[in-house]
Amino acid sequence: MGKFYVTTPIYYPSDKLHIGHAYTTVIADALARYHRQIGDDTYFLTGTDEHGQKIQRRAEEAGKSPQEFVDGIVEGIKSLWQLLKISNDDFIRTTEERHVKRVQAIFNRLYEQGDIYKSEYEGWYCTPCETFWLERQLVEGRCPDCQREVELLHEESYFFRLSKYADRLLEHIETHPEFIQPVSRKNEMINNFLRPGLEDLCVSRTTFSWGIPVPFDSKHVVYVWLDALTNYITALGYPDDPELFQRYWPADLHLVGKEIVRFHTIIWPIILMALDLPLPRQVFGHGWLVLEGGKMSKSKGNVIDPVVLVDKYGLDAVRYYLLREMPFGADGVYSEDALILRINNDLANDLGNLLHRTVSMIEKFAGGTVPAPNTYEDLDREVIDQAAAALRERKEYIEKLDVSGALAAIFRLVEKTNKYIDSAAPWALNREGNRERLATVLYTMAESLRVTALLLTPFLVETPGKIWEQLGLEGDPAALNPEMEAVWGRFPAGTQVKKGDPLFPRIDMEKAVGGPEEPTPAGKKEKNQPAEAGAKAPAGAKPPVKPDAAPGGAGLVTIEEFARLDLRVARVLAAERVPDTDKLLKLTIKLGGEERQLVAGIGEHYEPSSLVGREIVVVANLKPAKIRGLLSQGMLLAAASGDELALVVPEKSIGEGARVR
Ligand code: ME8
Ligand code: MG
Repeated sequence: MGKFYVTTPIYYPSDKLHIGHAYTTVIADALARYHRQIGDDTYFLTGTDEHGQKIQRRAEEAGKSPQEFVDGIVEGIKSLWQLLKISNDDFIRTTEERHVKRVQAIFNRLYEQGDIYKSEYEGWYCTPCETFWLERQLVEGRCPDCQREVELLHEESYFFRLSKYADRLLEHIETHPEFIQPVSRKNEMINNFLRPGLEDLCVSRTTFSWGIPVPFDSKHVVYVWLDALTNYITALGYPDDPELFQRYWPADLHLVGKEIVRFHTIIWPIILMALDLPLPRQVFGHGWLVLEGGKMSKSKGNVIDPVVLVDKYGLDAVRYYLLREMPFGADGVYSEDALILRINNDLANDLGNLLHRTVSMIEKFAGGTVPAPNTYEDLDREVIDQAAAALRERKEYIEKLDVSGALAAIFRLVEKTNKYIDSAAPWALNREGNRERLATVLYTMAESLRVTALLLTPFLVETPGKIWEQLGLEGDPAALNPEMEAVWGRFPAGTQVKKGDPLFPRIDMEKAVGGPEEPTPAGKKEKNQPAEAGAKAPAGAKPPVKPDAAPGGAGLVTIEEFARLDLRVARVLAAERVPDTDKLLKLTIKLGGEERQLVAGIGEHYEPSSLVGREIVVVANLKPAKIRGLLSQGMLLAAASGDELALVVPEKSIGEGARVR
């Protein structure tokens, strides 16, 4: 038994939180629940970052005092976490007295030991990011992180000696490969920030007042990031109340979005070094949830409200989607279609159906009582092995923080058990009167579901209990240690099952989101025209998904399947119309240094001359086809909506041959 201290960023209460914030918090929650389940002494902290110029301005715009303004929003944030059943042990607000006085004590100490000194700041500031920038770091005069405008500051400031600790930090990062994850972010920190050299950091401001006063110089307020980062220790009582601090520090995991990894792996560890405290074991910077049209942002007004989704689809469906869909560590595209597919395929078809089939068959073939198994055969053993694999792999994936991988491992057991039922055919055994074999099969089904429910408890918070109840089991699955209980054979034979409602009703995609985009109408083809292998414009923004896709994830492709497509940037060298057609253009393209010919059905939308010299995206490994007698070696990508057609092109010139992924 170990201990596990996990944190989320403390969010700015500048506005309602969106699905991106829910994403971080739900993952942290799943990890905390996992560690509690395996018996670790677990502490899970979240909260709000309430000071700073951004919040002060937002409050002014709203015509409220900053405190009044944040109080309203924080209430909403707390109720969001209740709705999502977030199991945090504490919620820290940086405006709380306990935090304010501890930040002041920390600031004092750093000043007294000479790590903070007074000087003059002249440079740039991005208020939305609350970040100081040097002239040379700006990109076209704008914030390199968010591309918004920066302001020129010139004020008296206190500075923190980051430079003094830079070498020690670099050494720590290099000797602790697990400290910054994923590895790509570690390299970015080293190459972009540490190698060029650290400047001392400005840690106070004088031109606004919404912050923690510097204790010995009250015209200054503490820089909001110094204030915010220390929440991870002030919430544990540091420095004056050591009990929780001694029990849980150092943090095992700071889970953050990739845009704030820098604060957590450079500024934060140096603060800790200056305080002579151990560094957190790991900072994990996850990717962003983006929309098809780009990043979610409050200013773009395109944020997704998790409350609306939970209302529409239910809590566990939303939690499952967030935990399962996002690729490990990388950005992922949020789409409601993908959410519905996950519900229909994984939750309704695979899991829900497995429970329904199991309980129904036990009722029908065994009077509702789970029979004791007899001799296991090879077929049964496959399920038993898969159950053991699910337990083992869940652990392995969670240790790498790959929650999606852990869920996939559990759902392989679900899938296996569904296939098992098809092969073992309990209905046939019943018809033949083979009671002995039937008992083993029914037991295997029920036992597989019991193990599944146990393994799912950190991730889904309502479903495991519902499975438990329908299986007729007693108690709370979340209270059981899977290492002891998720082992095969612990289902008490003789238990009476209780059929209930379907776990997840199927969602009608048409009704929920207006259905997937129409595929290109087949009847629109020109008469006598052969199949346009090189001319197909794929459907529009949304993937052409089938809501009724078969169980087992049909309709979804794996990353390996996607990777078989060789998508490349090509340059158009020449273009002309194919004689006697309106639609077809013959393009000569350059791809990977070689010339190729492509026939594309875009002649009604593009003049040949307008294409010459442009970069386009093509499927480079499509089987060649003959169109109107012309060879077409590949297919270009275009988006279609109604009668509109738009070529897919790189957003900036990147050179022919570049791979599209
Ligand atoms: O940065 N996808 O607060 P913040 C994934 N107060 N995660 C997202 C996301 C998205 N589209 N949008 C937000 C701050 N997040 C500071 C933190 S910590 C000492 C101070 C999540 O309100 C992600 O975790 O801007 C990101 O890092 C965080 O919300 C930023 O929240
Ligand atoms: Mg932010």
